Amino acid sequence: MKAWVLQGGFGLSHLHWTDVPIPTPGPHQILVRLHAASLNYRDILIVEGAYNPRLALPRILGSDGAGEVVAVGSQVQRFRPGERVVGCFMQSWIDGPLTDEAARSTLGADRDGTFAEYVLLEQDAALAIPPGYSFVQAATWPCAALTAWNALVSAGCGPGQTVLLLGTGGVSLFGLQLAKAYKARVLLLSGQETKRQRAEALGADATANYRTLPEWDRWVREQTGGRGADLILEVGGAGTLERSLRAIRRGGTIALIGVLAGRGTIDPMLILMKAVRLQGIFVGSRRQLEEMSRFMVQHALVPVIDRCYPWTELPTALECLRKGEHFGKIVLEIIPQGG
Ligand SMILES: NC(=O)c1ccc[n+]([C@@H]2O[C@H](COP(=O)([O-])OP(=O)(O)OC[C@H]3O[C@@H](n4cnc5c(N)ncnc54)[C@H](OP(=O)(O)O)[C@@H]3O)[C@@H](O)[C@H]2O)c1
Repeated sequence: MKAWVLQGGFGLSHLHWTDVPIPTPGPHQILVRLHAASLNYRDILIVEGAYNPRLALPRILGSDGAGEVVAVGSQVQRFRPGERVVGCFMQSWIDGPLTDEAARSTLGADRDGTFAEYVLLEQDAALAIPPGYSFVQAATWPCAALTAWNALVSAGCGPGQTVLLLGTGGVSLFGLQLAKAYKARVLLLSGQETKRQRAEALGADATANYRTLPEWDRWVREQTGGRGADLILEVGGAGTLERSLRAIRRGGTIALIGVLAGRGTIDPMLILMKAVRLQGIFVGSRRQLEEMSRFMVQHALVPVIDRCYPWTELPTALECLRKGEHFGKIVLEIIPQGG
């Protein structure tokens, strides 16, 4: 089969479109012919060596993928050939709290991933795609959507609460859709005016531009009667955390998710004096993915897909993601290469 493999080192020059053997399912595994895979900022970090400098290579990249079961292992009960499935980001996190084993079972880093014609999944770490959702749509769920879901649900998001979102990437736009479905009030920051408008059209209650309004924490306090947001989905990391700490209400929750804004310094005084809850989020379990998919169906939530690329154009798609040109998700359509 064809696959995108990182081999021989880090950097785009080491990302190869190459032939590898189709894997054989073990007793508890299913073999899935992929139809779509979505990109995450993580994929850029992995290629650059910033995600895990000790990553074992060669590795097929990609954590998110949806396709059709084509073969099953001898002990597989949950799926049959022909079923449409989406894989879990972590292949060993089924339910309960995150464990060391689960954290080391991620697709596209610890195990071969979804930028390939076929992927092996544990039978317990896949989910049937609900009717009405396409492969392309389902392929956006495993990482970005589940991360936003986990952050919102862990913080008890609900009516009357104010949620702050940073940017209009995959995690933040799922955060917007899910938080609105929970009847929360959503404030959103974007560095681009047109994206701000699009976020408002999607339901954001108020938006601001973090480039023209670098002191956006003041804007958040103004928007909340001086109180601050109840929950922030922090995708910026150290570069934005200081401001998020100024924008959060006393006793509020900051879900630590991403690293988009680079380095920065943090004043621990703000954390303790505001009694802020800092909650690290690492995607989520299969149980959470199931709960999220039911919620998506119930509220008829359709993923925001900026564009699809033929999967042969992965380097171009990654460059688009790196430049932040997108609004929502970027998806690869996986077309069989034959032979
Ligand atoms: N912890 C986890 O489990 C987990 C899971 C998923 C993702 N992540 C991390 O979360 C982050 C977001 O992931 P993603 O897939 O949603 O990324 P993405 O789709 O690439 O989102 C990028 C967008 O974020 C916005 N942005 C960039 N720099 C910003 C800044 N300094 N301040 C505010 N917004 C900024 C921009 O939106 P505008 O153009 O609108 O400004 C940009 O288009 C990444 O660091 C990723 O690695 C972590």
